[in-house]
Amino acid sequence: EKGGYKHFMAKEIAEQPVVLADALRHYLTTDGLNLPSELDFSNISRLTLVACGTAFYACSVAKYWFESLARLPVEIDVASEFRYREPPLPTDSYAIFVSQSGETADTLAALRYCDEKVAKTIAVVNVPTSSIARESDIALPILAGVEVGVASTKAFTCQLLVLATLALKAARDRGHMSEAELAKHMETLRLLPGLLTRALDLDEALNIVSNDLSEARDVLFLGRGAMYPLALEGALKLKEISYIHAEGYASGELKHGPIALIDSHTPVIVFAPHDALFDKTVSNMQEVMARGGKVLLVSDRKGLDVASEGVWQTVQMPEVPDLFAPILYAVPAQLIAYHTAVAKGTDVDQPRNLAKSVTVE
Ligand code: F6R
Repeated sequence: EKGGYKHFMAKEIAEQPVVLADALRHYLTTDGLNLPSELDFSNISRLTLVACGTAFYACSVAKYWFESLARLPVEIDVASEFRYREPPLPTDSYAIFVSQSGETADTLAALRYCDEKVAKTIAVVNVPTSSIARESDIALPILAGVEVGVASTKAFTCQLLVLATLALKAARDRGHMSEAELAKHMETLRLLPGLLTRALDLDEALNIVSNDLSEARDVLFLGRGAMYPLALEGALKLKEISYIHAEGYASGELKHGPIALIDSHTPVIVFAPHDALFDKTVSNMQEVMARGGKVLLVSDRKGLDVASEGVWQTVQMPEVPDLFAPILYAVPAQLIAYHTAVAKGTDVDQPRNLAKSVTVE
């Protein structure tokens, strides 16, 4: 049932081009976006996105999309904090709950808190029969198929895709995107399965660097903009399955404290596609190298051409339009964690202390 793979996690990472293509076929049709007609962002004053763990990082990426594309203010929070804060919620707002299992206790409690307070509750779920799907006003399936590995992989990329289509819809509804621009973004999204396949070809290269990473006691991940949540996701994946201490930081925050951690034993993984923020991230990376830090730079050809000097290892990703780069960069984040854990010999699919579905608070 692992289809020739050693672990479910490896199988589920490899399945991403196929499941993402399924989700794309569902949400993007020749007529435009296929979303329920009662979803209308035109008169919404705010969005609240709530989830736990990896699903929360998907929300964190989506915040960049909703704000930049649709000019819609977005609040994000982890469910276990949100539900106890008694947050005031505008009646003209939507609340979105992202959950692979649809049974996460804190996320479900957050949904119940929002019910009747907001104009609509929307669930982005993998299990359509789940409590979160049933109790929300609108449930949008991510169509990732059954995810067995405890570490979430294909669910994350499919969550991102559904959130991206919602952000495009919001941008259209609110008059911030022309029909032609929407068509262009849809074309870009349709490139993703092919690009993911190419990113998966980096498996062997990432396997080799992961042997070194498996010796580390601490690993740092850096990213800027929508790559910052990817840094957090990379760190979460690594710590949960390899038990190596890892932290993700916004590149620009490094000098406000974490740079004190840098030494030659602490690998620093930098996610930096050659986008508008590239130079800023590279200057943070150089600060790391100036303090003896060894950097693994994950970028594209353009980025590596200008910034590889002095870097410990490079990984060359396919080029991808900036906006949807986080969907592609999920692959190296997952593969680094996977191969490091395999090199350490930990139980990848069933990491200690963790459960697939967290139905207690
Ligand atoms: C990390 C992971 C967890 C889940 C979190 C939420 O790899 O799998 O952080 O993302 O427990 O679970 P769901 O999405 O089922 O609500």
